[in-house]
Amino acid sequence: MDKFFIRGGNRLVGTIRVSGAKNSALPCMAAAILTEDEVTLENIPQVWDIATERRLLTSMGAEVELGHGSADHRTAISCRSLSDPVAKYEIVKTMRASSLVLGPLLARAGMARVAMPGGCAIGGRPIDLHIKGLEKMGATILQEHGYLEARAEKLRGAHLVFDKITVTGTEDLLMAAVLAEGETVMENCAREPEVTDLAALLCAMGARIEGAGSAVIKVHGVASLHGAHYRINPDRIEAGTFLIAGAITAGDLVVADCNPEHLAAVITVLQNAGALIDIIAPDAVRVRASGQLTAGDISTEEYPGFPTDMQAQYMALATQAEGVSLIKENIFENRFMHVQELVRMGANIKVDGRTAAVRGPSKLSAAAVMCSDLRASASLVLAALVADGESILDRVYHMDRGYERFEEKLQGVGAQIQRMGNVFASNEVEGTAG
Ligand code: UD1
Repeated sequence: MDKFFIRGGNRLVGTIRVSGAKNSALPCMAAAILTEDEVTLENIPQVWDIATERRLLTSMGAEVELGHGSADHRTAISCRSLSDPVAKYEIVKTMRASSLVLGPLLARAGMARVAMPGGCAIGGRPIDLHIKGLEKMGATILQEHGYLEARAEKLRGAHLVFDKITVTGTEDLLMAAVLAEGETVMENCAREPEVTDLAALLCAMGARIEGAGSAVIKVHGVASLHGAHYRINPDRIEAGTFLIAGAITAGDLVVADCNPEHLAAVITVLQNAGALIDIIAPDAVRVRASGQLTAGDISTEEYPGFPTDMQAQYMALATQAEGVSLIKENIFENRFMHVQELVRMGANIKVDGRTAAVRGPSKLSAAAVMCSDLRASASLVLAALVADGESILDRVYHMDRGYERFEEKLQGVGAQIQRMGNVFASNEVEGTAG
């Protein structure tokens, strides 16, 4: 298993580029199920979750071609034949977003068999709202042997009101609605840019959608969709992580190839912490910090609020800020696994229910720490960048799920970070043999 070795203390200076959004790429790849034609997507990040989605689509009979060389972020997907509309447990268990194929499979093939996702490190993550919406559109869904068996000869437009805002739930039902008969009105929808990205692709494929990006989305079902060529938006969570990397290291970083509009909540929080932020181009943000940061409270919310996917990274920053920062996690019930690892590095953090109180600044000291999920890993990298000495991060495969060439990008702006593959595993094997 790969590890990161990170020596703290360097200011990050220079330009760092953001990849395409993983959370847009996943539903957009699933959208290819809706047509027999080829869908070509540009700016697809090369991360594990994308490789998993590719595996999922090919296991159903799709052809997924990845670009090479200068086109290595292009993916062409052809779902002409969907011989096996099943999302197998072996794949779903490694990536919960696999449940995104439920809506499009039902719409296209009239049936779907999708393994029920279990819990995950950050909480229960049910998909009851996906199921409820599809049933309202006329699907019959049975649960058996850990699988959902869904059938619908023809989905019908419906009036859907989400009890709770769900990102992939909105995306899943949107993909079902575009081929349903008649009009679907969806209320209390997620307004995340990833939903807007998916809707833009679906419109390019011939769908009729109004209101994506707002709480109410209207869809006029069409008989069929055609192929399209579409470029995925930049990853706002990767961009936000880099902004924090610049601020926490008292650096001077240009975060390029991003969409500053999608970063508004994160930018405001960083400005309140004392970082200087300039939007220097329509796709670039510069962050500078002096080394004196101020504590500030955050509360995670659905977009356009402060993203839950940035909570762990902000906590690393809060350990370096003067005063007490209260961090409230409203979206997931168990998203504080990074806390104990940060405490092992010398942070002063107390958790009470869904709120963590971080008292700073703490002098962090390097330690061997364990990554527990994607964003928790990013938080530990950020902490290690300012810790005294060399930290070793284990289980960086969590990071590889969603950050593309993270260590290379950070090296390019002056971080001392190295990836080592299997060093300890091979030592252990040798040790055993000896
Ligand atoms: C997506 C993102 C994830 C992000 C999250 C919240 C992808 C692939 N992942 O996850 O990175 O952290 O949004 O911004 O886009 N819920 C239910 N029933 C449902 C669905 C959700 O109760 O049927 C609850 C969840 O338990 C959670 C909340 O709704 O408490 C939000 O979850 P949701 O927006 O669905 O998260 P994901 O779409 O899985």
